[in-house]
Amino acid sequence: MFRIRAVTRAVRGFYTSTAQLHDSAIVGLYADGQLLLPLSTPEAGKETLNSLVKAAGAKGIAGESRVLYGNFGLGSDIQKVAVVGLGKQGTSAAAKDRVRMAVATGVKALKAQEAKDIGIAGMGHNVAAAEGASLGLYNFNFFKSGKKGPSSGSNNVKISTLEDRSTQSPDEIQSFEHGLIQAKAQNLARILMETPANLMTPTLFVEYARREIEGLGLDRSRLSVTIREKEWAEEMEMGAFLSVAKGSDEPLKFLQIEYHGGKADARPLALVGKGVTFDSGGVSIKPSAGMALMKGDMGGAATVVGAMYGIAALGLPINVVAGIPLCENMPSGRANKPGDVVKSMSGKTIEIDNTDAEGRLILADALTYVSKTYKPHTLIDLATLTGAMDIALGGAYAGVFSTSNSLWSELEQAGEEAHEAFWRMPLHSVYLPQITSNTVADLINTGGRSAGSCTAAVFLREFVHGIERDDGFAKAEGEPSTEVGKVLDLEDSKEGEQKQALKPGSVRYAHIDIAGVMDTNSNSGYYAKGMTGRPARALIELAKKLSSK
Ligand code: BES
Ligand code: MN
Ligand code: ZN
Repeated sequence: MFRIRAVTRAVRGFYTSTAQLHDSAIVGLYADGQLLLPLSTPEAGKETLNSLVKAAGAKGIAGESRVLYGNFGLGSDIQKVAVVGLGKQGTSAAAKDRVRMAVATGVKALKAQEAKDIGIAGMGHNVAAAEGASLGLYNFNFFKSGKKGPSSGSNNVKISTLEDRSTQSPDEIQSFEHGLIQAKAQNLARILMETPANLMTPTLFVEYARREIEGLGLDRSRLSVTIREKEWAEEMEMGAFLSVAKGSDEPLKFLQIEYHGGKADARPLALVGKGVTFDSGGVSIKPSAGMALMKGDMGGAATVVGAMYGIAALGLPINVVAGIPLCENMPSGRANKPGDVVKSMSGKTIEIDNTDAEGRLILADALTYVSKTYKPHTLIDLATLTGAMDIALGGAYAGVFSTSNSLWSELEQAGEEAHEAFWRMPLHSVYLPQITSNTVADLINTGGRSAGSCTAAVFLREFVHGIERDDGFAKAEGEPSTEVGKVLDLEDSKEGEQKQALKPGSVRYAHIDIAGVMDTNSNSGYYAKGMTGRPARALIELAKKLSSK
């Protein structure tokens, strides 16, 4: 019931159930020469299309697209048909991504030729086809004169299935709608990240997020948004978060989103996102070249909001909470100074060696708060945390640092499904001395140049409540030895990989460093130069995996 209503609202403006008046269409071509046309296509249309495809020299390879003119019996108002190459037929994640890319290439080609209402033929992967169409139409042009302010529309080009609804199963119809929701989740994250920092302050961010989330129209008992202010953070004694925020004139916000789709008493999945709406570096100021990119330093926050939107719109049977600290990192008379010591909510003290390592400070308190308050079974934070992550993996993979083998493997699969790939990085106590020695406090917020992403990750782990620790645990094969205790994931020990083996109260934790995948230079397929909104769709895939069957 909720599900239908949420879906209907979410896709309004994209999808209409009345007869379509498509002015154009996209059909797929496999490398084996098979053209994928709707069942209802008349024989004559099929023949003409097939011979034109040959004449156009189309080979059905990935990335290829040919626009042919005519309607070929596909629909009376159709004037142009984009034939897009799908490569090899298949059901793999890679084949699915070829559909995503191909449809995106098709919508771009048709949009360039003034198409306003595009029908998309079934290509065996309806979800991916819808995602490709909506992601491909994304274009951040809101600040060009004559365009209206930020909105999550797709430039007034309508997209819907070309297939006759009466010949489609409810599943097929719904899968197209689900693809549109998943793309919107990512487009939402893209917009939040791309919008300049003067127009996406913590205050504006929470307003935007609230409007999108509450726009789903779900009951407050099912989906709720709570916005916390500075006074609340003071009550919580979030000394690390407060110390970063006080350097800016913009007030901090802490955004909480709670979605109840699962059993009332089921422990939730928790998502925490770094929300630095602008990172100047603070007193340890960044060089000016490229600093504008730091408007995207709330990428963790943005992808978490996008994912929450998608999870709720799909009505997934799972409980999910999001905790998002938002502030600016600025130099000022009230800003943190190198050498300052602050006390985090956990009670641990932190020496601020470099004010540019601000992400881990605000996340430290968010992680403590979320892990203690919600007692999640799985806790994942997303953050544009370290430049070192981009050096290590670039834009190909986001780095995952996890205490849990099973969570890592679920994330790896989710990343494949969404084609937002993850690579596992070490989360290991061997890196602790770099952030615990040579400091007057319990921890220091930089661990030096060496293994910068790994020291950041192990820093964050210190603030998660409920990770099982066993200092006597035997060292795993191939792992470097360490003086200090290492984290034991009980679930991954002899007990096996069963979810039930998770000790009551303990949490599976992963930190995802998305600094490298924050932005892209590519404009091919569904990519658009600028902020990526990655990995909003992979998080939705993960939530599906963790949903109760
Ligand atoms: N937001 C940056 C990391 C970043 C860099 C994200 C490039 C995206 C692209 C983060 O707050 C930062 O400044 N990290 C420092 C940490 C260092 C001072 C220990 C860095 O990576 O240089
Ligand atoms: Mn920084
Ligand atoms: Zn930052």
